[in-house]
Amino acid sequence: MELKNDLILRAARGEAIERYPVWLMRQAGRILPEYRAVRSKLSGFKELVETPEFAAEVTIQPVDILDVDAAIIFSDILVVPEAMGLEYQMLEQKGPWFEKTIQTMDDLKYAETNFDIEDRLGYVLEAIRLTKKELNGRVPLIGFAGAPWTIFCYMVEGKGSKTFSESRKMLYTNPTLAHELLNRITDVTISYLKAQVNAGAQMLQLFDSWAGILGTEQYAEFGLRYLDKIANAINEVPLTLFSKGAINSVNDLAKLNCNTIGLDWNMDAVAIRKEVGETRTLQGNLDPCALYASHAEVEKSTINMLNRFESQRHIVNLGHGVYPDIDPEKVKTFIKTVKNYEIRF
Ligand code: CP3
Repeated sequence: MELKNDLILRAARGEAIERYPVWLMRQAGRILPEYRAVRSKLSGFKELVETPEFAAEVTIQPVDILDVDAAIIFSDILVVPEAMGLEYQMLEQKGPWFEKTIQTMDDLKYAETNFDIEDRLGYVLEAIRLTKKELNGRVPLIGFAGAPWTIFCYMVEGKGSKTFSESRKMLYTNPTLAHELLNRITDVTISYLKAQVNAGAQMLQLFDSWAGILGTEQYAEFGLRYLDKIANAINEVPLTLFSKGAINSVNDLAKLNCNTIGLDWNMDAVAIRKEVGETRTLQGNLDPCALYASHAEVEKSTINMLNRFESQRHIVNLGHGVYPDIDPEKVKTFIKTVKNYEIRF
């Protein structure tokens, strides 16, 4: 099917664009009353994720309501550990919770790799197929997965954490187990991303949300090494790597076989552009909290951010997911400001 708006794909490949493409991480979700309405009819978050018709509906909501230049499939990074053998629950107000975790070599029986993706994650693939049909070529559809290090954190810790000290502890006390688990997550993630492309995903993003809690050397060994493996295996569609907080690793990340590097709001677009040149597209990076300010201030901080990139290799986004209590009207101001910004190249 012919795409009516392929701006984001062109920006990812470094081709000419008329204006910057824009979308938001976590755009499908609680900021929209329309999402909360669908969600309130259901038993919980997992029913939404696991029912392709509902997942497709909330995936398309931000395209209709916010006018973004891409849709991202509604799912979660935690579907991968679940498919491997660790079931999760999403507790209201608390977040994810796993009954079992990986602590010993014996626990690796809960980290299976030898299964059919369609069999265990077919609901995500069906949601992608349905969304593609309903989008009817309006904008590209982004598929995603968690990066191995971030998935490792949830499989070892079993829940969210500020420090993920159990996960970091294993890197010192049992690096062999850590590498074995990371390898397994990597293998499943590669198959899962390829299955998403076969189902219709036109672009992929890896979320390494907990990259920033490792030192530079440890992130090279336990993070980048596995991102490298994935980036080399995925050549079908443009790939974005987003390693939140990994300020000292951005230049090494940019050397991997990907199209786009995601920047959080602490990362300096000017310095990073100087380092990577025009070899990679940069995505980001307005502070999500900037959207709490007045409409006039949102416009000002958006323009300030855009002025720091000044390249056709820029996909506009926030520096992390949009916070659930942000007024969608402020998001619209952000998006309108990007769309009205005249590019000068
Ligand atoms: O719009 C989109 O970006 C697509 C959907 C999406 C969700 N989660 C839906 C979701 C995506 C891309 C994710 C990724 C994800 N999930 C990450 C990486 C990105 C990041 O924010 O760093 C992580 C770490 C998770 C794990 C996760 N999922 C946590 C820790 C939580 C609980 C905290 C919270 O935000 O509530 C979730 C739940 C979740 N995933 C929600 C949504 C819309 C909220 C659930 C609800 O509706 O109640």
